[in-house]
Amino acid sequence: MASVTSLTASVHQRLADALSAALPEAGSADPLLRRSDRADFQANGILALAKKAKANPRELATQVVARVESGDVIKDIEVSGPGFLNITITDRAIVANLAERYADGARVGVPLAEHPGTTVIDYAQPNVAKEMHVGHLRSAVIGDAVVRILEFTGESVVRRHHIGDWGTQFGMLIQYLIEHPHELDHKGGEVSGEEAMSNLNRLYKAARTVFDSDEEFKTRARRRVVDLQAGEPETLAMWQRFVDESKIYFYSVFDKLDMEIHDADVVGESGYNDMLDETCRLLEESGVAVRSDGALCVFFDDVKGPDGNPVPLIVKKSDGGYGYAATDLSAIRDRVVNLKADSLIYVVDARQSLHFKMVFETARRAGWLNDDVKAHQLAFGTVLGKDGKPFKTREGETVRLVDLLDEAIDRATAVVREKAEKVGLSEPEIEENGRYVGIGAVKYADLSTSAVRDYKFDLDQMVSLNGDTSVYLQYAYARIRSIFGKAGERTPVAHPELELAPAERALGLHLDRFGETLEEVAAEYAPHKLAAYLYQLASILTTFYDQCPVIKPAPAQEVAENRLFLCDLTARTLHQGMTLLGIRTPERL
Ligand code: ARG
Repeated sequence: MASVTSLTASVHQRLADALSAALPEAGSADPLLRRSDRADFQANGILALAKKAKANPRELATQVVARVESGDVIKDIEVSGPGFLNITITDRAIVANLAERYADGARVGVPLAEHPGTTVIDYAQPNVAKEMHVGHLRSAVIGDAVVRILEFTGESVVRRHHIGDWGTQFGMLIQYLIEHPHELDHKGGEVSGEEAMSNLNRLYKAARTVFDSDEEFKTRARRRVVDLQAGEPETLAMWQRFVDESKIYFYSVFDKLDMEIHDADVVGESGYNDMLDETCRLLEESGVAVRSDGALCVFFDDVKGPDGNPVPLIVKKSDGGYGYAATDLSAIRDRVVNLKADSLIYVVDARQSLHFKMVFETARRAGWLNDDVKAHQLAFGTVLGKDGKPFKTREGETVRLVDLLDEAIDRATAVVREKAEKVGLSEPEIEENGRYVGIGAVKYADLSTSAVRDYKFDLDQMVSLNGDTSVYLQYAYARIRSIFGKAGERTPVAHPELELAPAERALGLHLDRFGETLEEVAAEYAPHKLAAYLYQLASILTTFYDQCPVIKPAPAQEVAENRLFLCDLTARTLHQGMTLLGIRTPERL
């Protein structure tokens, strides 16, 4: 695998060398290189450095220009304004650099991280016996993208689906199932995810009705909670049936989302039951947690209720029960000690931020988190309806995730069908593309705004062919593929000796930035920056098409080959980038 030094990096290095030659006391100062409209790059760092050294910025800039090793990379470098540098790259360097990327295959020259670590990421965590809603969509989509991005950088990633599979609510459900033993039976073999969920829903409603009206059932249900906690075998076996049934449903939804979830990574709340006692003991012995009104609590100076009294994190309730916090603290120990993580990521709704703030701080006090092991909540905002309020059905109920996905697929299939004849798609291809476009649209809408922000779920906008949508990107990709269908004898060949048109240079310089973009995206867990990069790539490609014919009118042989080469590298970059977002790129659309 050949990782490629980007043009930005090599210009940066040349400037930094010239700078330290011109101003030795600046050491390895940063010339602050940016892409620019005036030239290819602008360096803005000299101003501040000159100021610090009490030198004249224009003079310093002039000296840097005099000392810079242009090689065959820098075509032109000039001082502008009070001490900026405008830098233009040679056409040869652009094409030669892209040719190296092209030779690297699917990775397109993107280097691996120098010091990869181990990240445990907690995402896609629905709750047993409950319908999945848009909140679960966000966690799954963002988490899946971050997993792919981190793995692409060489990080070892351990996935944890912290499903809600434990708690007092199971007493009622288990008791009901014991009294109505056939409620979850699978008549006639396998059930679909939809059927599994509808069985669970029916059972839940029925159990709730009896629970609310029958005092004796209520008592039996409460006793059942005690049995469950004591690990009584029959009770546990019944509980397992709820988990298994729910998993059939979860997997069907993840499958619809075109997402791979592995059974071994589903470690729900119950997976930490054996650690809870010890977690509490460690916290109490170290004085991190204290007894307060019979409960085991951790206090924080800056967490107070509306009445001004401190609100503690309750690790163990006064009745001896463990809650969400004890599980999360135990999970941290497991992830740090057993899984050897150095980064923990939690892709969880921003409304749980206070919980994670308190949990992380507790873990730091206990020494489980420290400078070498960091935890980060990748908090996401709320999905809103078109009216700007949290997304609900007209009846005010939360929207079922499957319904949303099905609608997106239907809309997308209609969009695909419109062009299908022209492209020559068969019915199965229309349906497959409909799924890829529909699911891609939902994922892209979720990933293209920064995670913490709320966004509006607007299917019309999501499947629109114009604008910042996945379909636009998918069309850009398919369009390149169709060019190759028409290319005949001509094949992609890099020609560094050619002079480039402005649109070719713009495309080349943007392709060069893929690796740096990914580095930033991975470091900040910010898939939206990758989405923005890809959207820009597709837009630049559109300009390139307008200005630089590839097939018709036929340009000179070398020009055509070089353009095909640019197209092919763009297609690979789009494909790789979209794959990292979990979005498919159909060959024909
Ligand atoms: N199951 C929870 C929910 O649906 C999310 C779990 C988040 N992860 C965690 N480690 N607490 O809200």
